[in-house]
Amino acid sequence: MHRADTLEVEELEIDLLLEALHRRYGYDFRDYARASLRRKVRHIATTVGVAQVSDLIPRLLHDPELFGSVVGAFATPVTEMFRDPLFFKFVRDSVVPHLKTWPFVRIWVAGCATGEEVYSLAILLKEEGIYERCTLFATDFVDPVLRRARDGIYPLRNMKTNSANYQRAGGRATLSDYYHADYDSVIMEAGLRKNITFANHNLVTDGVFSEVHLILCRNVLIYFNSTLQKRVQDLFHASLLHGGFLALGSKESLRHGDFQDKFRELEPTWKVYRKIV
Ligand SMILES: C[S@@+](CC[C@H](N)C(=O)[O-])C[C@H]1O[C@@H](n2cnc3c(N)ncnc32)[C@H](O)[C@@H]1O
Repeated sequence: MHRADTLEVEELEIDLLLEALHRRYGYDFRDYARASLRRKVRHIATTVGVAQVSDLIPRLLHDPELFGSVVGAFATPVTEMFRDPLFFKFVRDSVVPHLKTWPFVRIWVAGCATGEEVYSLAILLKEEGIYERCTLFATDFVDPVLRRARDGIYPLRNMKTNSANYQRAGGRATLSDYYHADYDSVIMEAGLRKNITFANHNLVTDGVFSEVHLILCRNVLIYFNSTLQKRVQDLFHASLLHGGFLALGSKESLRHGDFQDKFRELEPTWKVYRKIV
């Protein structure tokens, strides 16, 4: 077979695999960005040891454990505390002063992965004296990942990078004030979790949160195609109250859809927007 034919057949096999995932398990990856999905599917096929992508389909239909690994690979739950420290510094210096003007604040961290991002935000809000009036919703669509977020237990070896990020983000104390070390793990202080609700929410299929003041959805939309990005951005627009803030990842933007007139960009590098209409 010519290379072009092989690639065309592989695309068809990937379509069928995604269809199988959707119909058997209810997870819909059909509007995820194709190039990165293709790389992941090839990697899974090699790891499982099958010759073609379509050989994965019967395995996937009958083996929930393989399904778990495939969803885990597609989801890419990679994160760290105070990731992009200068983004958190911008939130502290330029967004928190606005949050302070509201008597209560609802925050949605969408695609929270294993939780480091929402604990970082909780620390920042505590240091700024407004944690007690904040309600945080941290959502993701992979239950095992959410369980790790809820537990707030992380490898001790990651804390060097996390602490350096915290300092660069304008941290007012030391990061170790917010966790207890236990052998080779750390456990985040329970008080940080007090106002956080962890919940399963799928950005592809689930609905809006109401009257939210701040949404963080960073490094999630890069995995979506433009149709799905537009759907999710509509969801965020409908969830935010007037004057609410939306933060995307540094490689993401609101260019899909008609959002230019609905949001004002506050910071071009860290992609922080304010809802104006
Ligand atoms: C690269 S991580 C980003 C984590 C964190 N926001 C950060 O910037 O460090 C992407 C996360 O998005 C989640 N995700 C991907 N598709 C999703 C969907 N359809 N609904 C909800 N979460 C999703 C994944 O499970 C993963 O935990």
